This record gives sequence, structure tokens and C-alpha cells, in this order.
Amino acid sequence: MLAISILAAGKGTRMKSTLPKVLQPLLETPLIEWVLNSCKELKVDRFLIVVGHKQEEVKKQLSWNNKLEFITQNPQNGTGHAVQTLVPSLGEYDGDLLVLNGDVPLLKPQTISHLVEEHQKRKSNVTIITSRVSHPKGYGRVFAQEDGLVDEIIEDKDCTKDQLKNNLVNAGIYCFNWKKLKKVLPLLNSDNNQQELYLTDAIKMIGNAMHIEVKDEKQIRGINNRIQLAECEKIIQNELKETYMNQGVTFIAPDSCTVSNKCKFGSDVIIEPETHLRGECVIGNDSIIGPGCYIKDSKIGDNVKIIYSVINESTISNSVEIGPFANIRPMTYIEDKCKVGNFVEIKKSIIQSKSKINHLSYIGDANIGKAVNIGAGTITANYDGKQKHQTLIGNNSKTGANSVLVAPINIGENVTIGAGSTLTKNVPNNSLAIGRAKQFIKNNWIT
Ligand code: UD1
Ligand code: MG
Repeated sequence: MLAISILAAGKGTRMKSTLPKVLQPLLETPLIEWVLNSCKELKVDRFLIVVGHKQEEVKKQLSWNNKLEFITQNPQNGTGHAVQTLVPSLGEYDGDLLVLNGDVPLLKPQTISHLVEEHQKRKSNVTIITSRVSHPKGYGRVFAQEDGLVDEIIEDKDCTKDQLKNNLVNAGIYCFNWKKLKKVLPLLNSDNNQQELYLTDAIKMIGNAMHIEVKDEKQIRGINNRIQLAECEKIIQNELKETYMNQGVTFIAPDSCTVSNKCKFGSDVIIEPETHLRGECVIGNDSIIGPGCYIKDSKIGDNVKIIYSVINESTISNSVEIGPFANIRPMTYIEDKCKVGNFVEIKKSIIQSKSKINHLSYIGDANIGKAVNIGAGTITANYDGKQKHQTLIGNNSKTGANSVLVAPINIGENVTIGAGSTLTKNVPNNSLAIGRAKQFIKNNWIT
């Protein structure tokens, strides 16, 4: 029998943030979701989350999961006190309790499962995860014997100079025999440098305490400040990029790029330097993204080249060239073999195949046909101050440089629009439309 409790009531003072610590994002996902995910292999009877500081925000984040029970800890008097608050709801529960600090995101599900298995196999009173780390500062130091029995954990702030030299640290993940733990919980006191009730003090009181040492120290990183948050982000980024590289993606300068864990790549994709992929991105075969791109929640086809550009919630088909300096905003669909050039902004539009928008344009709420040439500086004036309106342009039409198309407007097929035109009326197929003042010349103006 197994119950799980995640300690998530703390403020996270060292983060210096208005956001509760467990909601700080790591790879765009709050820390607490990482911790939940690390338990995903376990079969659980009860799942309790200890909340306190800004508890409504924490509950809201986890509201998708209806198996969670929230227990309020108020005030927050330390990790030992947090576990004491579980007593009324767990009561006579007769099983093991896995306690996880809410700020330890990188533990692998297999590591946690292994902890529970070993604990149950050895029938220990408590089993904890430890690791030998190169920078133990801030972590509780674990004093253990060679056979794995733990004598005690002493918090960093309470260690003597000699004790600080011990680099075996407490990960903040514990599997307790609940009945045994319940007996010692009332004995915790705050006679320490932080004047808090430490859960770690329960270890020496409970006896028959074992530890499992994790060799990969990266897994046990706790996050107390923004430096540790950045270190974890780097660890996870490196792991992800290595995974993608092993799948056959080239990163020219991986350290300068960031990726999400929801990217899908075709074969022989090249990610150039300073490129960032967020959310769900799909990149097709032989495409080259970057340098200098930001792509979010978008689908990019095969043989696409994008350079120094932003693509957001859009779909780009095969053999399209984009950039430099294009901004493709949500709900844009760019079909095969189109070209979008420099200083072009497109929003909520369909650009059908083989069309070109090469320079200095704004295209919004438009449906542009096949093989259309949008001249430099063409603007779809889609907003009348109250509402957005549509612009339609038929196949094979050409807009002259600096055209303003005042929507709603329907430009037919095979239309040519003279440079500098401002058009407010529909244009029929196969016609020439010019909407500008006639050129006037006064000879001998200067005599
Ligand atoms: C804790 C451990 C330390 C361990 C380290 C691993 C204690 C006393 N120390 O220190 O041995 O090496 O984690 O990362 O446990 N929380 C509550 N209520 C509270 C206080 C904290 O729910 O009253 C929660 C926090 O939200 C957090 C977790 O408990 O998720 C750990 O608290 P934190 O203050 O970060 O403990 P550390 O100083 O990191
Ligand atoms: Mg911590």
C-alpha cells in the first residue's frame, strides 16, 4: 500500500518571486508538474498535496488531476510540520508514505520506483534518496554507514565545519512506513538554526533508516533560487538536445539554442545557432531553421528554410522560404513553394502555393491565391477601428509597390494593381486597377 505526499506549501523566499516556488516554470512546465510526473510509474492509493502559500494558485494549476487531495498547512513551519498536517487525513492508514519535496524536479520515474521497491523489499522504517555531489552547499548532509544504514541528516545551516565536508546529501525524497513515522512526528522540535520543524530530524528518531545513493547527481537537484533554476534548465536542455541529435537532428551550435520536449523532427533537419523552439513544433525533412529563429506551436514542412524570423501557431508547407526578419503570427497557413521575405508580417491568413510576399508588407485576415506576387510595401488595411475585415486576392494577381487594400475587399484573378494604389472597391478578374492621384508636372517651376 502506498500513499504519496508532495510538499508544496512553502513560499520559496529565495526565489524572490510573487509566484509560489512550485509553480516556477522549468522548460515551460511548473516544478510541481515535474514532481507529479516523476511518480507516474507508481500504483498509489492516496495522493496528497500539502499546500499553503498561495494555495489557490497551486490548486488551480493541478485542477486537471481529480485524484489529488489538498491538505492545508498554515502557517508553514517547516517540512516536518508539513508532514504533521497529514496526520488527520492519513490517520490509521497502514502502508508506506512517499514524501517528495515539491522543488526537486529532475528525478526519473525509475529512480522513484526503485526507491519504493527497495524500501518494501527491505522492510525499512524509512528509505531516502541520496547522492554524492560536487557542490553540497544548501543540502542536508547524510551521515550513513557502509551498509547503507543512515544515522542522521544534519541541515547545512546546522552543520559544524567538519560536517559540512560530507558531500553525501539528502535529495528530499523519502519512503516512510507511515505508522512508524506517525509515532515520531510529535517529537520533532524547532531547536535549530532555522527554528523550523525539520522532517529530516525524523530520520534519526525512527531508526532502521536506509539510503539509496543515486550516481547521477543531476537528478537530485533541488531548486531554491533562480541560479539553481537556470542550472536545472540547462541540464534538461542539454539532455533534450542530445536526444534530438541522437535522432538525427544537426545543431550547429547547440549551446545557443533552446528546445521544448514536444518537438518532432524529420530526417536531416539543421538547426542553426540562436534558434528557439517552444511548445509543440514539428519540423519536416531537410528543413533548415535559423540562425536566429523563434518557432512556437507550429508545423513546418519539408525543405523549408527560415532565417532570423518568428513563427507562432502557424503551418508552413513544403519548400517555403521565410526571412530574414519575418513575423508569422497565429493562424497563418503558408502553402508549398511560397516566399516570404524581409520585414513582412502575416496574421491569420492563407497564402496559397507559389505566392511571394518579398518585402515590407502587412498581410492580415487575408486569403491570397496561387502564384500571387505581393509588391513591396503592400498593406491589407484590415481594421476599421471597430472590426477586422477580410481581403481576398485571386490566383496570379500582382499588387504594385505600396498598395493599400482597404478591407473588406475582393481582388479577382489575374489582376494587376498599379503601384501606390489605395483600393476600396472590389476588382474583377483580368483587370488593371489604379487608385492614385494622377502625376502632374509643371514645367519651368524654377526659372
Ligand atoms: C530540504 C531538506 C534538505 C534537503 C533539501 C533537498 C529539510 C529540513 N531539509 O531543504 O535536507 O537536502 O530539501 O532539496 O527538509 N515546504 C512545505 N512547508 C514548509 C516548508 C517547506 O510544504 O513549511 C515545502 C516547500 O514548498 C518545498 C519543500 O517543502 O517544496 C522543501 O522545502 P525547502 O525550504 O526548499 O527545503 P530545503 O531548504 O531545500
Ligand atoms: Mg528546497
